[in-house]
Amino acid sequence: MKILVTGGAGYIGSHICKELKKNGFDPIVFDNLSNGYKKFVKWGKFIKGDLKKVSDFKKIKKIKFKGVIHLASNIEVGESYKDPTKFYLNNVTGSINLLEFIRLNKIKNFIFSSTAAVYGELKDNSKPIKENFHKEPISPYGKSKLFVERILEDYSDIYGINFCIFRYFNASGADSDVEIGESHIPETHLVPNVINACEMNKLVKVFGNNYKTKDGTCMRDYVHVSDLAEAHVKGLKKLIKNNLKKKNYFNLGSGKTYSVLEVINAVSDYKKKKVKFKYVKNRFGDPSILMSNIDRAKKILNWTPKRSNIENIVKTSYQWYLKNNI
Ligand SMILES: NC(=O)c1ccc[n+]([C@@H]2O[C@H](COP(=O)([O-])OP(=O)(O)OC[C@H]3O[C@@H](n4cnc5c(N)ncnc54)[C@H](O)[C@@H]3O)[C@@H](O)[C@H]2O)c1
Repeated sequence: MKILVTGGAGYIGSHICKELKKNGFDPIVFDNLSNGYKKFVKWGKFIKGDLKKVSDFKKIKKIKFKGVIHLASNIEVGESYKDPTKFYLNNVTGSINLLEFIRLNKIKNFIFSSTAAVYGELKDNSKPIKENFHKEPISPYGKSKLFVERILEDYSDIYGINFCIFRYFNASGADSDVEIGESHIPETHLVPNVINACEMNKLVKVFGNNYKTKDGTCMRDYVHVSDLAEAHVKGLKKLIKNNLKKKNYFNLGSGKTYSVLEVINAVSDYKKKKVKFKYVKNRFGDPSILMSNIDRAKKILNWTPKRSNIENIVKTSYQWYLKNNI
C-alpha cells in the first residue's frame, strides 16, 4: 500500500517512513528539501516537490495512494513572528493544494501533523491538556496549524475525507539504530542544543527563571520521535480499516514534564560532565508548563509512549549527535 508522506525527508517524517516500511507500507516522500535531507529518505521513493507549486503535483498524479501523512511545513515558532506570510503561504496554502490533490484523486485517509501550539496560553496550566481544551494559538505558526485543522474539517464534512489530527508536544530523541535523527537548521530545540553545548563547552541559554514551576524554568512534555512514528502507523491502519470516526484528534506527548534544568541535568548525567548555562530574558509567549493528557491516544489507538523517558531521549539524541559531528 502506497502512502504519500509530505515532509518525509525531515526529522519526524523520516522516522515515520521507517515505521511505515516496518509495517509493510510503501512510503513515497514528497519534499522540497527546504529543511530536509535526501539522505534521510531510506525507506521508499523520493519525489522532489513543493506543496506551494500546484504543477509539482503532476509528478505524483499517476500513483495510487491509500493514504497521506502530511508533515511538510515551516516549524520554527520564533521565525513565524518575524515572517508570518512565509508560514501562511507554506503551511496553509500548501495544505490546501495538497487537500485539493487528495480530493481530486479520491484519497480518503489523511493524517495531519499539528501541534500543542494550537492551544495557546491556558488559564490553568497545572492541568494536563486534553484535546477538547480551548484553542487560541498565539504564534502565526500555531495559528497556521489551527487554520489547516479547520479546513480539514470542512474537507471531511463535504468531501468525505477521514482524518487523524495529531497534536505533538515536544518531539525529541532519535532512531535507536542511529540511522536518522534531529538536524534542524537553525536548531531551536532544547535537547540537541544542550548536547551541542556540552560537546562544544558552550553555555546553554535558559530563557527565564521566574516561572511558577519547581525550579523557575519552563516545563515541557517530551515525546520520543519513534513513539510518534508508531502512533501514526497505528492511526493509519485504523483509518484504512474504518475502525475510527471520520474526524479524530489526538494529543501525542508523554504525559510527563521536565524543566529546562532537568533536561540540562539529564545530559550532564549521561555524559558525566557539567553543562554550563546562563539565564537570559523570557521568550514572548512561552507558557510555564505544557503537559499533555494522552488518555485518548492510549485508549483508542492502543498506543503507549514507551521510549519517551528523558534518559532514553538524551541517549538516542546523543548517539545521533556523535554520529554526525565526530
Ligand atoms: N519537531 C517538533 O517538536 C514538532 C512539534 C509539533 C509539531 N511538529 C510538526 O511536525 C511536522 C514535522 O516537523 P519536523 O520537526 O520533522 O520538521 P522538519 O523541518 O525536519 O521537516 C519538515 C519537512 O517538510 C519539508 N517541507 C517544508 N515545506 C515544504 C513544502 N512546501 N513542500 C514540500 N516539502 C516541504 C522540509 O523540507 C522538511 O523536510 C511539522 O508539520 C511540524 O509543524 C513538530
